[in-house]
Amino acid sequence: MRIYVLTLFPKMFEGPFSESVLGRAQDKGIVEIVIRNIRDYATDRHRTVDDYPYGGGAGMVMKPEPLFAAVEAVRKEIASGTEEGATEDGPIILLTPQGRLFSQKSAVTLAAEKELILICGHYGGVDERIREHLATDEISIGDYVLSGGELAAMVIVDAVVRLVPGVLGSEESALGDSHMSGLLQHPLYTRPQSFRGWDVPQPLLSGNHAQIARWRREQSILRTLKRRPDLLENALFSPQEKRMVEEMRRDASK
Ligand SMILES: C[S@@+](CC[C@H](N)C(=O)[O-])C[C@H]1O[C@@H](n2cnc3c(N)ncnc32)[C@H](O)[C@@H]1O
Repeated sequence: MRIYVLTLFPKMFEGPFSESVLGRAQDKGIVEIVIRNIRDYATDRHRTVDDYPYGGGAGMVMKPEPLFAAVEAVRKEIASGTEEGATEDGPIILLTPQGRLFSQKSAVTLAAEKELILICGHYGGVDERIREHLATDEISIGDYVLSGGELAAMVIVDAVVRLVPGVLGSEESALGDSHMSGLLQHPLYTRPQSFRGWDVPQPLLSGNHAQIARWRREQSILRTLKRRPDLLENALFSPQEKRMVEEMRRDASK
């Protein structure tokens, strides 16, 4: 998989993209992350990337020309590339607080792509023609406003890359993570068995795999019911679990 990030602040990515899972994914050659400076695609003498908003008001607006040129150059590069399965119509994602909310489901979908192009806005935002005629998708990472799309791009890249097959070792599989099955993950414990008088729950010490799996599933459902009951509406349950959820709901409302 190859991910292109178009930004005015390439240095922001140096630390986050070179450490931990993202660093290892690139070292293993499973993922290539290419950071492009949008300013390199500005053609005037001052390499201008932003300008005042028509109609006045606060906040500079990112100009369309450098961003269109940057995306077109990347698309050309993809088209001429030899990477197996390379497509020229992968998503061009504009990071914006006005986009659809990013979720684990979005991450799973994006992890199946061969190429992603992420556009980081800055200042007051980007010229509307970028949204209308360049981006194929608009994503927000939450209902708050960041100074730029860089942190949002990092969040998305991290969540996506860890789902690409081969990136996580079997010991750190993403399958049991919160939100993968529509539920929150069960509580986790490690040694020592007793810490300051707080003990590890008995089922986890039983050595009985069926009992452990049952305990974890129950805890996962219980935790979701307590913290994020909204998630239960879309989670998949066996008939027996459905009855259990109803019982837990009744107990919780007492
Ligand atoms: C200060 S914001 C501009 C916000 C814009 N004036 C608005 O109200 O929609 C600058 C840039 O940060 C990025 N950004 C800010 N909040 C974001 C969020 N919640 N999700 C994704 N990107 C965000 C976008 O790329 C945006 O163009």
